[in-house]
Amino acid sequence: MSGEGMPAEGLSAEEVLAAIRARRDRDADWRGGRTFSLVYNPDHPELEKLQEQVALEFLHENALNPFAFPSLTEMDAEVVAWGSELVHGPGPGRMTSGGTESIFLAVQTARDEAVEGRGVTAPVLLTADTVHPAFAKAAKYLGVEHVKVPVGADGRADPVAMTERMDALTGRVALVVGSAPCYPYGVIDPIAELAGAAARRGLLFHTDACLGGWLLPFWEELGRAVPPWDFRVEGVTSLSADVHKYGWTIKGASLVLYRDKALLNRQFFLYDGWPGGLYGSATTAGTRPAAPIAVAWATIRHLGRAGYLELAGRVAAATDRFRDGITAIDGLHLTHPPDMSVMEIGTSGGAGVGAVGDFMDDRGWHLDRQQGGLHLMLWPYHLKVADQFLADLGQAALTTAADRGRTAGYGGIA
Ligand SMILES: Cc1ncc(COP(=O)(O)O)c(C=O)c1O
Repeated sequence: MSGEGMPAEGLSAEEVLAAIRARRDRDADWRGGRTFSLVYNPDHPELEKLQEQVALEFLHENALNPFAFPSLTEMDAEVVAWGSELVHGPGPGRMTSGGTESIFLAVQTARDEAVEGRGVTAPVLLTADTVHPAFAKAAKYLGVEHVKVPVGADGRADPVAMTERMDALTGRVALVVGSAPCYPYGVIDPIAELAGAAARRGLLFHTDACLGGWLLPFWEELGRAVPPWDFRVEGVTSLSADVHKYGWTIKGASLVLYRDKALLNRQFFLYDGWPGGLYGSATTAGTRPAAPIAVAWATIRHLGRAGYLELAGRVAAATDRFRDGITAIDGLHLTHPPDMSVMEIGTSGGAGVGAVGDFMDDRGWHLDRQQGGLHLMLWPYHLKVADQFLADLGQAALTTAADRGRTAGYGGIA
């Protein structure tokens, strides 16, 4: 279609739908449990139907102006309060469009606190090298230097090496970050040690719980071992938690939370330097879609704690099934024992990571390639496909190849 220019005449609604559906046929089959990132599938048809109805109800509203649509302001505030309670937070925060926006805002507020509050001239963002690329992107966009420290053999941030860098960067560190868990390996950084070291030096500390924020509280309730990661750790001053991941809502919903209101205030933008009157916004976006707010509210209200616990139990069952199945396959292993439902499959002996990935592609699975292995992220629907997946993976491990195969992570530029 590209190169034809904007169509002179419109198509009928039926023709438009047919055209869209034809294009969609080539998309990844997430409904069939064939993907392990991008779409989190709770296998909950009733919830999905409710989400679609609520999205339709709020398809056209705009959450930019809290006075025009107080219903959205109320729902936003309730989602923040519920999420904050889950992570034992004092409260202040905002809904954002996703993990990346939450992270941008946490880096921006920390940068401004360092520059305006402490007179730092060249602020630094200090993270482990497993931290999500959103931090590198935030550093690039916000003019902050990103210093990355190699993780230890267990895949976790190394608190000794990180503390040394806090000291070596004398006074320049605007924000120290730990992940709960990190995306590549699914392990939780030693948040208590990292945040404690930051606090003793008067530095801000952010827990990136974009992945774990809505699952780890229930993981803990299930009796699984969860090292400290949330606001119960005193030095944690901000936290990101994505409702559109293990919070099971539609795309466009995350939380950025702070320990202190003063830090949140640095996020707000008020402006009257134009003829259009006072303009205010609490997050990065101007015009803001309303559906993600309403659907997040509806999802949490529908599931309640009991629903989240039940879904977490099914994620835990899927995690056990996949972990045990993978480690039983000759030539495959998990590179770092995961703390949650996210893991990396490594190969040893003959099979190359790329070759195993290619074999699985050919069987209709979509596994993201990392530098050291194949990435796996699990949700309830995967229980339905575990046997088939493990059978195909066993076959894949038998095919050994010297080539590195195709390479692709879970993001991309078309
Ligand atoms: C640990 C972690 N942080 C941040 C993000 C960024 O989230 P988003 O893709 O919603 O911007 C992700 C995404 O997978 C993540 O896994």
